[in-house]
Amino acid sequence: MAENAKTEQKIAAAVKEALASVVPSKVGNATTSKPSKAAAPVASNINVDWGKASSKDIGVFYPGTASIEWILGRSHGGKRAFSKGDRCIECHGEEIADIGNNIVTGESEKELEPNVIPGKRGHIDVTIDSTHDAEHLYLRFSWPEGEHAAVPFVDGGKMDPENPMKLAFMLATDDVEYADRAGCWGTCHADANSMPFAPDGDALKGSDLANRLNFTTGSGTGVTKYLKESRTELELKGRGGKALGGWDKLKDQSEIDAAQSANQFMDVVRYKSGTKEVEDGQILAERDMHKGVGATVEASLKNGTWSVIVKRKLKSDTAGDVSIEAGKVYNFGFAIHDDYSSARYHHVSFGYKLALDNADAEVNVTKQ
Ligand code: HEC
Repeated sequence: MAENAKTEQKIAAAVKEALASVVPSKVGNATTSKPSKAAAPVASNINVDWGKASSKDIGVFYPGTASIEWILGRSHGGKRAFSKGDRCIECHGEEIADIGNNIVTGESEKELEPNVIPGKRGHIDVTIDSTHDAEHLYLRFSWPEGEHAAVPFVDGGKMDPENPMKLAFMLATDDVEYADRAGCWGTCHADANSMPFAPDGDALKGSDLANRLNFTTGSGTGVTKYLKESRTELELKGRGGKALGGWDKLKDQSEIDAAQSANQFMDVVRYKSGTKEVEDGQILAERDMHKGVGATVEASLKNGTWSVIVKRKLKSDTAGDVSIEAGKVYNFGFAIHDDYSSARYHHVSFGYKLALDNADAEVNVTKQ
């Protein structure tokens, strides 16, 4: 763990330094917490008949600097309908590749990517196979490996040289605002680490909140993902030069505890292909990778195809875990850090529905 932390510090420092000197937006440390669980894949511990799984193709796309504040702000054509309850995929489900390509090349009129990485792919087509038995959920994500695109503003061209690929998925109930329409987008803020309104390190260190939130992670400083439920306010308009977001508007601990008890958190599992760490955590006031009973992950890259198999308990009493029960529908989203990338330079999904043996859910987890 000490080794990993050191490596993370090195990566974070290298990325931060490289980006700070060349580009307007900042990247701090991307990998912000020590692993809580590690599972090295041996032959296969995950014995499932994938023939009984159902399969769904879901594209992930490169979002650039798009945040929930941007979605709810005046530059987004879908703002009004989204606020009234429309899902992202109702409008964008058929144009995932186009959106990603527009943003990654810097061609988007919305100017969502100030730091273009030449040759980076705009989208990835992912197949998700899903199945369950009495105790566990099994997900298999597969997608084609892409060409390496060197990052011009990072020494050596790789933001996270240790990890060719990282995958994270999130689950939430409808108790989390926007999760029903937007999957994980509610956690992604304009003032998070590497985003356009990220506060600088001094502002964070000098903040009263430094003893309530973990800004000093690895060697860097930065705001992690958080949910609106943990903040008194989010700045959406940015009038008079105000920074978008709400990192410094943290609610009292009693209110945050109440949100936690009311299921207002996102459960997250993350896997890093180089270090083979599996982390189980949650997001509410911040991303906390030490909450949950854990998961088992096996990943491989064979003949140009990545395959990541996740085994996770359906039910858990541990804080930070969403329990999956028959007859209920959950909100699901995932992200892939392709090609040694870190922080916001990843590919993300819109929000989808996940349920057990329910053909109406996009991710219909069928029984073994
Ligand atoms: C009611 C329809 C609608 C909904 C719902 C909606 N959008 Fe949009 N979105 C639009 C429109 C319209 C545009 C602007 C397209 C344009 O100007 O070319 C847009 C643009 C975007 C862009 C910029 C695309 C580009 O080429 O630069 C992104 C990113 C985006 N939306 C993400 C989302 C996300 C994420 C959600 C859900 C959280 C969402 N949208 C919900 C209608 C919608």
